[in-house]
Amino acid sequence: MTGEIVVAPSILAADFARLGEQIAAIDTAGADWIHCDVMDGHFVPNISFGADVIKAIRPMTKKIFDVHLMIAPVDPYLEAFAKAGADFITIHAEAGAHLDRSLQAIRALGKKAGVSLCPATPASAIEYVLDRIDLVLVMTVNPGFGGQSFLESQLPKIERIKAMIGDRPIRLEVDGGITRDNAAAVAAAGADTLVAGSAVFRGKSVADYAANIEAIRIAAETGRVRKRQDSSAQPMRVGEAARIR
Ligand code: DX5
Ligand code: ZN
Repeated sequence: MTGEIVVAPSILAADFARLGEQIAAIDTAGADWIHCDVMDGHFVPNISFGADVIKAIRPMTKKIFDVHLMIAPVDPYLEAFAKAGADFITIHAEAGAHLDRSLQAIRALGKKAGVSLCPATPASAIEYVLDRIDLVLVMTVNPGFGGQSFLESQLPKIERIKAMIGDRPIRLEVDGGITRDNAAAVAAAGADTLVAGSAVFRGKSVADYAANIEAIRIAAETGRVRKRQDSSAQPMRVGEAARIR
């Protein structure tokens, strides 16, 4: 699937003392989705917030809540996040023994199901669950903290997953160290949904956030167009060579 570019600010980079206000600000600033990073201090070496916080902030916006669960075990908590108002619930392929079962549980709760892959996890981890998911999240940093540097090693993995998805209605999301400088590269590789924390919450005002979101969106759209032009250029060259012969 090649849907519109979605920019999903991660509220992990928001000022937690003014969380409701900050969500309203990114909503006004043009965020497409709200990315919520849930960390348990066990699957990842950091603790963030849980279902009660998501429930409290849910009324602040009508935008899609994209809930990224970095927790293990995950199954006992799926219902709480569904009830809290998540639209997408994304779990880690590495977080449990029975990924297929957990994904079925998310859909049974009426939610969109996502799988996230840590940088060292191969694309093949999702091969046999492709028909159970609505989103694949490629981590472009090791999960646990905002503000880390983007890992270029993930670009071929994004390309590979894009090919695996084919025509399926599955969003391909990237998360970690995304900025206006690398958004073109991830979109050219096939990502259509870009999470960004520190690169969005830079500055103070709604206008700052709007400029940050727009810069990421424009860079991603440009990267995607450039990729399309490059790939359409290739058959033309082949055709030209045939005519010469
Ligand atoms: C990392 C989280 C990311 C992160 C993004 O574990 O999943 O969503 O907060 O933040 P930046 O854009 O600052 O890397
Ligand atoms: Zn995340």
